[in-house]
Parts: sequence; C-alpha cells; structure tokens
Amino acid sequence: MDEIKLSAHALNLYFGNKKILKNINIDFPKNQVTSLIGPSGCGKSTLLRSFNRMHDLSPDARIEGTLKLDELDIYDQKNSVTEIRKRIGMVFQKPNPLPKTIYENLSYALNIHKFPKNEIPQLVESALKESYLWEEVKDELKKPAVKLSGGQQQRLCIARTVVLRPEVILMDEPCSALDPISSHKIEELIMILKKNYTIVIVTHNMQQAQRISDKVGFMYLGELVEFDTADNIFKNPANELTKNYVGGHFG
Ligand SMILES: Nc1ncnc2c1ncn2[C@@H]1O[C@H](COP(=O)(O)OP(=O)(O)OP(=O)(O)O)[C@@H](O)[C@H]1O
Ligand SMILES: [Mg+2]
Repeated sequence: MDEIKLSAHALNLYFGNKKILKNINIDFPKNQVTSLIGPSGCGKSTLLRSFNRMHDLSPDARIEGTLKLDELDIYDQKNSVTEIRKRIGMVFQKPNPLPKTIYENLSYALNIHKFPKNEIPQLVESALKESYLWEEVKDELKKPAVKLSGGQQQRLCIARTVVLRPEVILMDEPCSALDPISSHKIEELIMILKKNYTIVIVTHNMQQAQRISDKVGFMYLGELVEFDTADNIFKNPANELTKNYVGGHFG
C-alpha cells in the first residue's frame, strides 16, 4: 500500500456562486509523482493551489471539505499559511525569479524563515546542486537571476523551493514556457527529486505525463473522473472520457 502524503476529502470549491471543484477525493502517495491532466478550465490549477492555501487571498473563494498534509489539517486556522507553504512548495508555469541575484533568490527565503546565517551559503549551494544548476552558475552567483535563460530560471525556481526542505512540491505546467531541452532537464530533475519529495504536477503534455508519473488524475468539468497508475490511465483507462482525452479525441 502507498503511504499517503497529501489528500483532499469531499473538497468543493466555489468562486462566488460558481462551483469549480466538485466533491474531489484524492490521495497523493509519498515520494511519487502524480500528474493532474484534463482539458483547459477543468480545475487543475484551482485544485493544485488549494493545497497551499493560495485561494486565501481571493475573497470570493469558498472551500468545503478536508485537505491534509499527513495528519495536519491544511485549513485549520491555527496552522500558519507561511508554515504550510514552507512544507508545501510551489513552482509556477512561468519562471518567476525575484528581481535579485541568483544567490539572493535562495537566501531571501532562508532569511525570512530564520535559518542560521552561517548555514545559508551551504544551503544555497546544496539546493543549486540538487536542482542541477550549480555547475552553470557557481561562478556568477551575484548575477541578476533575470539574466539566466528561461530553463535556468525555472531550475532556479525549483532550487528556491527545495532550499526550504519542503515535503511536497506542487508544479503548475512547469515546462510549458520552455524549449524541449530545458523541459527534458526539468523532467529528469523531477525524477530525481521524487526520492526526497512528493510531487504533484499539472501538465498538458501527455508524453511528459507518461514519462514521469507514477499516478495520474484525469479531471473534467471540476470533477476527478479517474485516478490510477500512469500505466492504466494511458493504456487501459476505465472511463470513456479518460480514454477519449488521452487518445487525443476530445471536443
Ligand atoms: N480567481 C478566480 N476567480 C473566479 N474564477 C476562477 C478563478 N480562478 C479560476 N477560475 C475559474 O475556475 C475554472 C477552473 O480554472 P483553472 O485555472 O483551475 O483551470 P485549469 O484546469 O488549470 O485550466 P488550464 O489548463 O487552462 O490552466 C475556470 O472556469 C476559471 O475561469
Ligand atoms: Mg491551469
């Protein structure tokens, strides 16, 4: 049996009076990669963002149900959002480095979270190594991060997430703004990172989902239609909608 790291139970999410997520029940296994797939607008990003409380700032968002990280209730108001986001990191579609140096992109969060000052250089170096960026940037850590290529910026954003030693990494289409070679590097990185982290990724790239996923959830119109091993979803889906979607016959 898989050990479950992150889960949603009876999750409904509304924006105003529009119901966007409909009774989602999902378990993400620890140290695995789970992909969320489905047509545009079906609620993949909304589901992903609900796990690190990104909707807290949307006044018209309303959430019902239970979301858990291990046994921790993510929406229990006594748990601080900062602490939740340290444990559940997020990487976005468009690389979004801070307008600071490469080094400061990582040290900034470490300072906010009050890591001991003398440990920071070593933590920055380890995170850059873990994200396979170190060799490319070790001689120019004082360069503005925005001068890196798009693929390097995305690996920097991953480094910025792993430097805080999260338990879960959420990724919303992390490769969609990248060329095939940079995308491939991120995919390889994801395969390595899963040894230490639980990864949930949204992707529109079915080949990518097949290559990197242990589990796959297919969403449609705010519902989780099917959740299974990547092998079953792509080779032997139980649901006709899933079959049409992964087969490219949708619309
Ligand atoms: N902040 C918001 N306020 C109101 N409606 C929203 C908000 N964010 C998303 N929605 C709506 O929620 C639905 C799901 O959007 P979501 O971004 O989760 O889809 P998605 O599956 O990630 O799509 P895509 O593949 O295009 O990224 C859409 O109808 C969208 O218009
Ligand atoms: Mg989206």
